[in-house]
Amino acid sequence: MTINEALEEGIETLKSWNIDEASANVEIFLSEQTGYKRSQLKLYKSEQLTTQQVKKFEDFLKKRTMGMPLQYILGKVEFFGCTLAVNKNVLIPRPETEQLVEKVVEEINISQLKNVRIYEVGTGSGCISIALGKELESKGLKYNIISVDISEKVIDTASKNLKANGLDPKKIRFKVEDFLNIKEIDDIDYLVSNPPYIALDDYEELDEDVKDFEPRSSLTDEKDGLTFYRKIAELISCSNNRFKTFCEIGFGQKEAIESILNKNKITGYKFHKDYNGIDRILEISL
Ligand SMILES: C[S@@+](CC[C@H](N)C(=O)[O-])C[C@H]1O[C@@H](n2cnc3c(N)ncnc32)[C@H](O)[C@@H]1O
Repeated sequence: MTINEALEEGIETLKSWNIDEASANVEIFLSEQTGYKRSQLKLYKSEQLTTQQVKKFEDFLKKRTMGMPLQYILGKVEFFGCTLAVNKNVLIPRPETEQLVEKVVEEINISQLKNVRIYEVGTGSGCISIALGKELESKGLKYNIISVDISEKVIDTASKNLKANGLDPKKIRFKVEDFLNIKEIDDIDYLVSNPPYIALDDYEELDEDVKDFEPRSSLTDEKDGLTFYRKIAELISCSNNRFKTFCEIGFGQKEAIESILNKNKITGYKFHKDYNGIDRILEISL
């Protein structure tokens, strides 16, 4: 099978299964397999794939037509300039979350802190803490990040990603912990989180690709989607320490979150929109 035949067969197959972005998916996969850039594939279109590459390509088509996200098939994803391994235990990092990282980096730049202490809730692939660690490292700043997740398997994947990205496990510590059980927040400068914020009713309506493949506990709190914001607000309101909080929030959650904050007498907050104009990041300053 030539590269061109694979391109044609792949795109036709994915299109016939109504898979979004069929061409991009096939090109990205073949580019990974052959080592050619996507833009070079046409240039080498007459080149034969090896028997093993053909086998892997067929396996890719089978998995993708079953709805498995491309990132899980490839086993990796790019996030904020970092390459991260992903598997069925961790959420595939989303572009919105890169904006959350951008906001925190902006804020750190303004703060002029020389030693930055961050606490992250809901590690996942480790994307947020690893991206922040790399940024802080490149600025030559001292830092200490603690990131907690309820799942041991998640922490395992994140720890591997930390190592693969050449970061120091003494500066970024991933810990198995149930955030909903913690009683107080240590002395920190920033609390950062992309928590499971999808309400149970909305979870049922998600695309099969998401529901069937991504971990449920990464997506929903099994309640109204607001559990983690309530916990964060409670911890903030009884904390003597001053720190800033940055959280990703779900579509349409702004008013409900405002009401939680008001109930906890938290006034110094604002919301930032994502590139689609949706309120996506909650910032709380104490
Ligand atoms: C939306 S995912 C975010 C993952 C990653 N930070 C990202 O942005 O892609 C939420 C994470 O919170 C974790 N989680 C769920 N319940 C938790 C709890 N009670 N305490 C700590 N982590 C929890 C999940 O295992 C999941 O990894």
